[in-house]
Amino acid sequence: MKAIPVTDSVYWVGAVDWNIRNFHHIHTPRGSSYNAYLILDEKPTLIDTVKASFYGEMKERIEEKLSLRELAHIVSLHVEPDHSGSLALLRQEAPQAQIVTSQRFGEAGLARTFQASWPLMPMGEGGQLSLGKGQLQFYLTPMLHWPDNMMAYLEREGVLFSSDAFGQTLATSRRFDDEVGAGFLLGEASGYFANIFLPYLNQVRRALEKVEGLGPKVIAPSHGLIWRKYGKEILKNYGKWARGETRPLVLVIYDTMWGSTERMAQAIAQGVVDEGVEVQLHNLSLGQESDIIGQILEARGLFIGSPTMHNEVYPTVASFLSCLKGVRPRGRLGVAFGSFGWSGGAVKAIQDSLREGGVEVIGGVEVKFTPTAEELTQCLELGREMARRVRP
Ligand code: FEO
Repeated sequence: MKAIPVTDSVYWVGAVDWNIRNFHHIHTPRGSSYNAYLILDEKPTLIDTVKASFYGEMKERIEEKLSLRELAHIVSLHVEPDHSGSLALLRQEAPQAQIVTSQRFGEAGLARTFQASWPLMPMGEGGQLSLGKGQLQFYLTPMLHWPDNMMAYLEREGVLFSSDAFGQTLATSRRFDDEVGAGFLLGEASGYFANIFLPYLNQVRRALEKVEGLGPKVIAPSHGLIWRKYGKEILKNYGKWARGETRPLVLVIYDTMWGSTERMAQAIAQGVVDEGVEVQLHNLSLGQESDIIGQILEARGLFIGSPTMHNEVYPTVASFLSCLKGVRPRGRLGVAFGSFGWSGGAVKAIQDSLREGGVEVIGGVEVKFTPTAEELTQCLELGREMARRVRP
């Protein structure tokens, strides 16, 4: 794949990673991309690099347009190996290029990551970098997705280099939103948002205000496709997700040892359906944690079920609860359920984890060995009650 023009002066020179299936614990069944952008101006400037193993690809794409010795700046929008991973290699071949990073956190991140004292050009909020005809303006967007994050805006062409924000994990030979369609791409962006940004909604809202104030024509994220047609749609959806808006959707997330917890899950789901509300069942031994976290983004009700094993929550459920506490899905309602043989405890532990994750716990049910008809009716009733509470 060659360098791909984005606007008159901006070229995509990144890399497509067709084979990645696990991106720091996020399931990526369709791969990903690491987007680097080259701005051709009097002072040619590279926005981000790629994972070190893709350095050769990026180099070839840059060299279609100029020699690495002609690069004036390399902008690091945040220090993480998928974007800054090639910096050390690139610096060997383009030592003249000044590295631009965010003040304090970016400076510290680069120094620690590369154990080097490269001369850096730090940028604060509103910092400007003249490229010749055009200029880049920088906006600090901490925690989107690391503390040093910033965005860069090329006003002359209305291009916002948004770093991780508005990205999707998707390997494709396409580079633009209109080449794949808004519905599909917004679905990809929602799963990415849930796993990366759900813990940082206040910071997302603050960043959105800045982006909406700029009104970019093109939003060029560091992963996935470039928004040139559906920019308003992705901003609208980010607004909805950042406000924590959910819909009447109930997830029943569980694992089972001998089938008892699964029978409870099915009774709960039937209760939700009885009240006309959408429900999804997710068996944690069969699904991917990050895919389920993606569904939590819009779900208003959560049931989490686990058998008790060795006085503990079942391992797959414990792992999922660790993810759930991390993304802190505040504003949802939660119920814990499960079965045990000789001693219980999983249900209380799940309730504690839900509370730690900001979920309002509205109930729990724990049964010994197999659920009786009465206990299954209790599960059904819990499903119905949840459905009534999540309905508008
Ligand atoms: Fe795409 Fe936060 O790295």
